[in-house]
Amino acid sequence: MAVRSVFREGLFNQKVAIVTGGGTGIGRSIAAELLSLGCSVIIASRNKERLTRASEELSVKIPASSPAKVTPVQCNIRNEEEVKGLIDTTLRLHNKVDFLVNNGGGQFYSPAEFIKAKGWNAVIDTNLTGTFYCCKEVYNAWMKQNGGAIVNIIADIFKGFPGMLHTGAARAGVENMTKTLAIEWAASGVRVNAVAPGTIVSKTAVENYKDLGTAIFKKAAHLIPAKRLGVPEEVSPAVCFLLSPAASFISGATLRIDAGQSLYSALFEIPDHNAWQTPPEGENMDTFLKMMNKDQ
Ligand code: ADE
Repeated sequence: MAVRSVFREGLFNQKVAIVTGGGTGIGRSIAAELLSLGCSVIIASRNKERLTRASEELSVKIPASSPAKVTPVQCNIRNEEEVKGLIDTTLRLHNKVDFLVNNGGGQFYSPAEFIKAKGWNAVIDTNLTGTFYCCKEVYNAWMKQNGGAIVNIIADIFKGFPGMLHTGAARAGVENMTKTLAIEWAASGVRVNAVAPGTIVSKTAVENYKDLGTAIFKKAAHLIPAKRLGVPEEVSPAVCFLLSPAASFISGATLRIDAGQSLYSALFEIPDHNAWQTPPEGENMDTFLKMMNKDQ
C-alpha cells in the first residue's frame, strides 16, 4: 500500500535524510513517509538482511515520478568508526545530508536490581552514545557548514521508566543532549528536537518483546486517554513536521506523541506493602485512620 502523508507532495524533494533503525517499526514508518514526500533516505541499522529487505519493500512504494531513493547502510551506531562510515557513504552518494533522525535503539525489560553491567552498557552505548556519535559526525562532516535538522526519538520517560532503568536514563540523557545541541549548534542553522512516543504497537515490537510485550500492550490500551495504542504512522508525521519548514522556529523541544498518556497513567504497579515508617502521631494521623476505618 502506498504511503499517504498529510504533507504536500514533493515537500522534501531533493532533500537527504539518515534514519537510524530505519528498517523496522517507527524508524521504517519515518523512512516511508520521508520517501513519499520526495526525500532520499539512508536507512541504517546493524542487521544487514533485515535492512536490505526493508529497503526493497520501501523502494517499490516510491512513485516513478519521485526523485527519492532509499539506500540501506549497515552500521552499528555504538561504533564511532562505523558512524563515520555511514556519514561518509551518505555524502559520497548524495553530496549532502539535510536531516538526521536518531531512531536506532534498543532495551530489554528487567527490574533494576537484576541489570548486569553488560546489559546496562549495551543499552547506554546504543541509545545514548550512539545518538551522540551520529549527531557529532553529521555536524562535523556537513551540518556545521550547511545547517540541517535533527530529530531524536526518545520515549515516555517523564515519570521515570520503571522496569527499564537503563533506557530511561539513556533517553533522559538524549533529551538533555537535544537541548544542549539546540543551543550549541544554533549558530550553524541546525535545529535539534526530540519526539517522545507513548505506547506504540508495531509488528517488530510485538515480535521483540514476545509474550510480555503482548501483555503490556493489552494492559496499556486502557491506560491511554485515547483508549487505544498508537501506531508508527502516528509518530512519523510529527518527525516530518519537525524536519519541515513548518518548524523553522522550533528547536530544543520535545514533542510527546502519546495521546496524553504521560500526563495520565503509569503502567508499573507498586504492590501493596507496609514498608514505610508510620507518620508522626497527632490529630492529622488520627483523622486519617478514622477515615480509613469508616470505609471498611
Ligand atoms: N538499532 C538498534 N541497535 C542498533 C545499533 N547498535 N546500531 C544501529 N541501529 C540499531
